[in-house]
Amino acid sequence: PPLSDIMNLYDFEVLSRELLPPKTWAYYSSGSDDEIALRENHSAFQRVWFRPRVLRNVNKVDFSHTIMGCKSSMPFYISAMALGKLGHPDGELCLTRAAGKHNVIQMISTFASFTFDEIVDAAAPGQKLFSQLYVNQDRELTRRYVQNAEKRGIKALFITVDAPQLGRREKDMRMKNAADSGNDAGAKVQKGQKVDKGQGHTRAISSFIDPSLNWDDIKWFQGITKMPIILKGIATWEDAVLAVEAGVQGVVLSNHGGRQLDMARSGLEILVEVIGELKKRGLWPNPNFQLFVDGGVRRASDILKALALGASAVGIGKGFLYSYCAYGQEGVEHALKILSDEMEMNMRMLGITRLDELVPEMVDARALTMH
Ligand code: FNR
Repeated sequence: PPLSDIMNLYDFEVLSRELLPPKTWAYYSSGSDDEIALRENHSAFQRVWFRPRVLRNVNKVDFSHTIMGCKSSMPFYISAMALGKLGHPDGELCLTRAAGKHNVIQMISTFASFTFDEIVDAAAPGQKLFSQLYVNQDRELTRRYVQNAEKRGIKALFITVDAPQLGRREKDMRMKNAADSGNDAGAKVQKGQKVDKGQGHTRAISSFIDPSLNWDDIKWFQGITKMPIILKGIATWEDAVLAVEAGVQGVVLSNHGGRQLDMARSGLEILVEVIGELKKRGLWPNPNFQLFVDGGVRRASDILKALALGASAVGIGKGFLYSYCAYGQEGVEHALKILSDEMEMNMRMLGITRLDELVPEMVDARALTMH
């Protein structure tokens, strides 16, 4: 269908399911185990209601934002996703080009199909990028990867901490012989090490990740880079407090798009708990520590809910993944336009003209905090 028929980010998903080879669809769309965490990412947003204000002058609406010191046209970043070429020949570069054109930040996956440098080279002059890190068992490789990222001007390092092993994504595992090393630049990034075929894409790339990673290692990262460090995949207030104590610049509250531990709560649910407990300890608000949320964000209303509840910004994964699977760079640009239109309309109807007017009173999140 023509791009103009695509009304929202869910439409891209429906199309991708029809278009993509079954193996690719399985890898992209699967959650772990019974996929309850995957579904919860959407249902959590559906339990939060708005408390819109009226009769305010909402003529001019501004939703530009700053994320880790970087200007962004909207209050989200495109989250890291591995193996982008499976869905489109230009893979991650569709995201890079669209993000550069529309002033949005993209986070580059360690297991991107294109090499890290190829993606950075595709960026526009001055375009801001984040880097996601899976810590390799070979720390020397990791050190070089991180230091190269810093040298290439990456603005923040997101260390993924919820994946000591990649989750059991059964849809993906059923696709025997799925690991197609031609597309598997996760392997390229990791210096062409041999890929273990036969158990799906997930298993093929997971063997590089170091399960011994622990809190003591954070100091080592702080010693090798000056980039701000954000821990991606925090799921409890206890670990959020440890992150503050470790001196990192932020955390992403997330269940990894429902792809890791099934039954792990959604980022939005975690946010409410974390902010409450950080406040009790005098650790929030905190100018040196940011809380990000990802998982299930497809609408501007989702973004606004998370921000009202205290998130600094949100990450969006599959919403953009499916936009380029179906239409390449143009699809991503259309997705950005959709979100921009939704932001403007939703902010008007909420009665705000700037994001700093979003306050917790603008949402009714009682259903999230009831345990
Ligand atoms: C991911 N995600 C992910 N995260 C990460 O830290 N490193 C990675 O390489 C990947 N790869 C990846 C591949 C695919 C196909 C998906 C769908 C997701 C997780 C991602 O960054 C993010 O946490 C979730 O995708 C957010 O949920 P939504 O927006 O997809 O619902």
